[in-house]
Amino acid sequence: MSKQLRVGMVGYGFMGRTHTNAYKRLNDFFPVEHRPVLKAVCGRNEEKTAAFAKNWGYERVETDWRNLVRAKDIDLIDIGTPNDTHFEIAIEAASNGKMVLCEKPLAMNVAQAEEMTRAVEMAGVPNMVWFNYRRVPSVALAKQIVEEGRIGRSFHYRATYLQDWTISPDVPQGGAGLWRLDVNAAGSGVTGDLLAHSIDTAMWLNGPIARVSAMTKTFVKERVHAETGAVQPVGIDDACMFLAEFANGSMGTFESTRYARGRKNFNTFEMNGEDGSLYFDLEEPEYLQFFEYKQLQSGKKMESHLTGWRKIHTTNSEHPYMSHYWVPGTCIGYEHTFLNALADFVAGIETGKPTQPDFRAALQTQRVCDAVISSAKQGTWVETGAE
Ligand SMILES: NC(=O)c1ccc[n+]([C@@H]2O[C@H](COP(=O)([O-])OP(=O)(O)OC[C@H]3O[C@@H](n4cnc5c(N)ncnc54)[C@H](O)[C@@H]3O)[C@@H](O)[C@H]2O)c1
Repeated sequence: MSKQLRVGMVGYGFMGRTHTNAYKRLNDFFPVEHRPVLKAVCGRNEEKTAAFAKNWGYERVETDWRNLVRAKDIDLIDIGTPNDTHFEIAIEAASNGKMVLCEKPLAMNVAQAEEMTRAVEMAGVPNMVWFNYRRVPSVALAKQIVEEGRIGRSFHYRATYLQDWTISPDVPQGGAGLWRLDVNAAGSGVTGDLLAHSIDTAMWLNGPIARVSAMTKTFVKERVHAETGAVQPVGIDDACMFLAEFANGSMGTFESTRYARGRKNFNTFEMNGEDGSLYFDLEEPEYLQFFEYKQLQSGKKMESHLTGWRKIHTTNSEHPYMSHYWVPGTCIGYEHTFLNALADFVAGIETGKPTQPDFRAALQTQRVCDAVISSAKQGTWVETGAE
């Protein structure tokens, strides 16, 4: 018999939509026992929230998240609101015994992330952070290739995450849609918003980042605040570059900006090891590029006239997640990364093997983000303390 998973969604913006889509499609594609029930969605504007609820099929609307996290008919609280709200909602949800799914970055800073991690662990509630890029089949295949030992000793890790939407000084900061530019709502700029993804993927593939040396820039120093109309200093980092040393001794470079004209969501990584290399680009998500130097089965090097980068079309049923979808050669999309993440989370509840990244894993990413910001301020290398 199927079990209900009664969902309380906080926020009905970009992530409210991607997550809700995942709840609706879960049982169509994945053979899990739990059936999500869209119980309630919460937003501050009743009319807009009700319109969202009607469109996506939520049973009811709440205008205060405190009522939602206490509601008896909710099993799972999903936090899809700006970063400054994650802390309070997650702590209250956990203390009311709810499962907690939270958007990234987990928190505004390490102190908050530590308390949130303690709260879910003390309550013993299943938890996950939506670092959805781990669930791109090509990225999950990269993880499989690393775990199979095909990259060997790691030397280099290189990540970029580039956008171009804040170049105009006329873009305001704050309020709906533009809270990412307001340091009080976002905590940081591209570091928490974009690099958090790159850092999560990097540490998943290549292990903990031990120390960082960073530089950040704020190109537009003042912007009008969308809510008050006042011209205010900009407190976020518009761009960030940092050097990293991983605990395994390899070197990393990370670059992120919202000022790379023409780049919309250019999220790439490359990893170079003794036995092979990997390259991924989110603009061609169905491909993973792999350079194989040593063939594992024979232990021999590739014959040199046959070497070259292999562009793997990650659409076979043997590839991660793909057996749940269509026939080889056909692709899935951005929205499926959230569906795959949800499927892993629910499977984790059912098998008793919690999925990753949970709050504790996201705390490690927060440690690196905080170290990056403080390194940029101090102009020195900073140890991250990430495990
Ligand atoms: N995993 C990803 O790839 C990804 C992508 C985008 C955003 N995010 C993260 O998701 C979160 C939300 O981002 P978004 O792009 O969906 O933002 P958004 O602005 O599109 O939506 C935010 C929603 O939160 C609501 N909200 C704000 N304060 C609230 C409060 N106090 N109570 C109830 N509702 C409130 C807003 O009304 C809106 O519906 C952020 O933490 C962001 O970093 C993650």
